Amino acid sequence: MATTTYLNLTTITAAANNISQSKQLRLTTSTSAIPSSTYTKSTEPLPLFSSVKSFAPATVANLGPGFDFLGCAVDGIGDHVTLLIDPAVQPGDLAISHISGAGSRLSKDPLLNCAGIAALSVMKMLGIRSVGLSLSLDKGLPLGSGLGSSAASAAASAVAVNELFGAPLSQSELVIAGLESEAKVSGYHADNVAPSILGGFVLIRSYEPLELMQLKFPHEKSLYFVLVNPEFEAPTKEMRAALRPEVSMSNHVWNCSQAGALVASVLQGDVVGLGKALSSDKIVEPSRAPLIPGMKAVKKAAIKAGAFGCTISGAGPTAVAVTDSEERGRVIGERMVEAFWREGNLKSMAMVNKLDRVGARLVSSVPR
Ligand code: HSE
Repeated sequence: MATTTYLNLTTITAAANNISQSKQLRLTTSTSAIPSSTYTKSTEPLPLFSSVKSFAPATVANLGPGFDFLGCAVDGIGDHVTLLIDPAVQPGDLAISHISGAGSRLSKDPLLNCAGIAALSVMKMLGIRSVGLSLSLDKGLPLGSGLGSSAASAAASAVAVNELFGAPLSQSELVIAGLESEAKVSGYHADNVAPSILGGFVLIRSYEPLELMQLKFPHEKSLYFVLVNPEFEAPTKEMRAALRPEVSMSNHVWNCSQAGALVASVLQGDVVGLGKALSSDKIVEPSRAPLIPGMKAVKKAAIKAGAFGCTISGAGPTAVAVTDSEERGRVIGERMVEAFWREGNLKSMAMVNKLDRVGARLVSSVPR
């Protein structure tokens, strides 16, 4: 049984076109927390700002048993986009002027760059024809790391374009723009871009139509993610190609029950239950872990050091463990780094981060 339904890019582009051309949105939102837009492209919106700067956080996709349908945003790390109205750029067009940080080898061709694809998609939804835009990307996230690097670039640029024009589009529409970008660069999945835009935990209930559910983790509960990123690149496309196209009925039943337990644990603020479910994937992790040197030992080391659970973050190679104490998180991180070195011969870096509850946002703006 296939675990995921894949839709082709034509479908997504059609959805984006639909939004820009009619009042009918082809997406439903399952909670009041994700309002649908009432925007229609009757007239081109005027820019409110001459430049804006946005930020989008890193994400942990899959969360173990939630392959392609569960993800969350983590605070403190992410990508920045600066976007300005540029008279030197042809009206209706977009140029990428500068890429800094961890993304120096990325293309500056907007059609080949995730930030560029998402920005163009939002411009198309809004029907921008009268001004040209210039985008600068500051990558805080390493490429191919399993921290939602491409999604953070797409989310930051989608939000930047929307904010420049007074934020007429809803978050769900921005997720569609980000999804178009993800489909082109790493595969058709929204479990990075949706949490990067919305913040917190997000369940993708359906792709066609896109239906997102925000899962509220109680504010008063402590939750820390230990993220250990080894010096090893695991391109998402390759890590997806490594997956078996079919799963057994028993693994399907197991993973579904664990994903259900994970959702319940998030809503109840049960970090122990969350960790247990996160650790339990029998479908995707067993195919990918052997491709990441040391991963099995890293997971063992995290649990031994007191983590409530550990798995691969997104498509890897970053390993993610959960705990309820920052100090314990630092110790768990040290043990995981040692295991990557000892068993995988890989240098790695540990971070202890909280949940990002805000998602992609405007950081600063210059009025026109
Ligand atoms: N769900 C995607 C995958 C996330 O695991 O391939 C990629 O970061």
